[in-house]
Amino acid sequence: MRLQDRAAGYAALLLPLLGAILTAQQPQARIRIDTNRVIGEVHPHIFGNFAEHLGRCIYGGIFEEGSPLSDSDGFRKDVLDAVKPLGVSILRWPGGNFASGYNWMDGIGPRDQRPARPDHAWGALESNRFGTDEFLRYCERVGAEPYLCINAGLGSVDSARQWVEYCNETRPTYWADQRRKNGREKPWNVKVWGLGNEIDGPWQLGHKNAEDYAKFALQAAVAMRRQDDSLKLIASGSSNFGPNADWIGWNRTVLDRLKNEIDYISLHTYIGNPDSNFEKYLSISQDLDDRIAIVEGQIRAARNEQTRPHPIYIAFDEWNTWYRARSGTTEFEIAKTGLEEHYNFEDALATGMFLNSFIRHANIVKMANLAQLVNVIAPIFTNKQGMYLQTIYFPLLEYGKQRGNTSLDVQVTSPTYRVGDRAPLGYLDVSSTYHAADRTVYLNVLNRSEKLDISARLDSVSGQVGKEAAVWEMNHTDLKAVNDFGSEKVKPAIRTATLIVADNGFTYLFPKHSLTILRLKIQ
Ligand code: AHR
Repeated sequence: MRLQDRAAGYAALLLPLLGAILTAQQPQARIRIDTNRVIGEVHPHIFGNFAEHLGRCIYGGIFEEGSPLSDSDGFRKDVLDAVKPLGVSILRWPGGNFASGYNWMDGIGPRDQRPARPDHAWGALESNRFGTDEFLRYCERVGAEPYLCINAGLGSVDSARQWVEYCNETRPTYWADQRRKNGREKPWNVKVWGLGNEIDGPWQLGHKNAEDYAKFALQAAVAMRRQDDSLKLIASGSSNFGPNADWIGWNRTVLDRLKNEIDYISLHTYIGNPDSNFEKYLSISQDLDDRIAIVEGQIRAARNEQTRPHPIYIAFDEWNTWYRARSGTTEFEIAKTGLEEHYNFEDALATGMFLNSFIRHANIVKMANLAQLVNVIAPIFTNKQGMYLQTIYFPLLEYGKQRGNTSLDVQVTSPTYRVGDRAPLGYLDVSSTYHAADRTVYLNVLNRSEKLDISARLDSVSGQVGKEAAVWEMNHTDLKAVNDFGSEKVKPAIRTATLIVADNGFTYLFPKHSLTILRLKIQ
């Protein structure tokens, strides 16, 4: 064969390949950064958490008396060491469903004299060895603001008011003196209180219709505020998003009746991937974004009629992936699983999806509490000998560094896909924040395509982008890979990327099924 023919043959073979490479390098997506397009402050309370008397969250998780791994307060030191770097900004307690049957008075005073009680929320036995003072001491140890949820199920308005007195009263009153007798002279000064948990759910002890709940919550709010007028109060919003649940109606009534008293309305959402469809799983941001937008509109409508004008925000005070450790039809059956989810790699990506949605709505979502902290649908998993970090721990840790930044409204175009008959959504799910003092932009990019690497052109209209980016990336070849004791194989890769910057922008390839945080300097 002549040389020219051979060259032509090679060219015929190589050109399509070259074409494919070039196409792959062509930006398929665009992200435009403008630091003046501010959505709102990423409130530190978006990085909150939740600890319930359920399974091994408290007993055997946070608190294990007599364990060689615990300190003199009974707090597991290894767990503390994992909780502290997370920077849990606010910690919700004691439930959850548990709150709706809980009498806080059982959990104070000398531990050996506290009564054991049946826990009718989860079918367990509650020793009450961990109570208000233990919880508040734990919050001080980890640097978290405490958030107490009152019993709006079987409890009374006056019991809620007296709980505030126990925690916050400075004068020598009966309950303040009980607190002093229990070793705490100065008030705990608990500011954030939930007016009950999931009272819209038929599974809840003391479940009520919206009118009855609003009446109870209003009386509780007024009585608690008489005790301490500096409280921040959270109404129990809709948790029950089932097809037959009138969740919009619930929120409308609650907001209308409580608009002059509350500072937040709560939302709860648990998601899952039961049919093992990766791209469908990560399309749930459509529901999250919709729900937040709908409730934001409802808040706006209620605020329009406030006689005491003040802001009301969304507290997303339970969120996570939860579907495997959820078998059974009653709460008692479900509790047998201990709700011990073993999180895999794709669940870590779902964590990024949730946080992206909260950041995109940073003007209205001012609190979010991952459910829960240890063992029970949690990022930290223990046994008697030690602990390991679940896959979802790592995005929580990294996104947490963006607390206090301003959320930016970045403009994104990306190849799209559809799930069923829903509107098309971009493969790239993006949020962005800005730290003005050091002119750093954080870009949080989830590529939810299972098969496509996506090349994106990123442009800044706010100044020249520095030539280096700090890259944090979570990726794994096995979507179902999990961590375990002694084997933390799912974790982020951290590196510095040198960018080829031209015209205040650069091109970056976001690998398929990955979560990337780029930290860029704007010069
Ligand atoms: O977090 C587990 C449970 O989920 C909580 O107790 C309840 O509020 C929700 O249904």
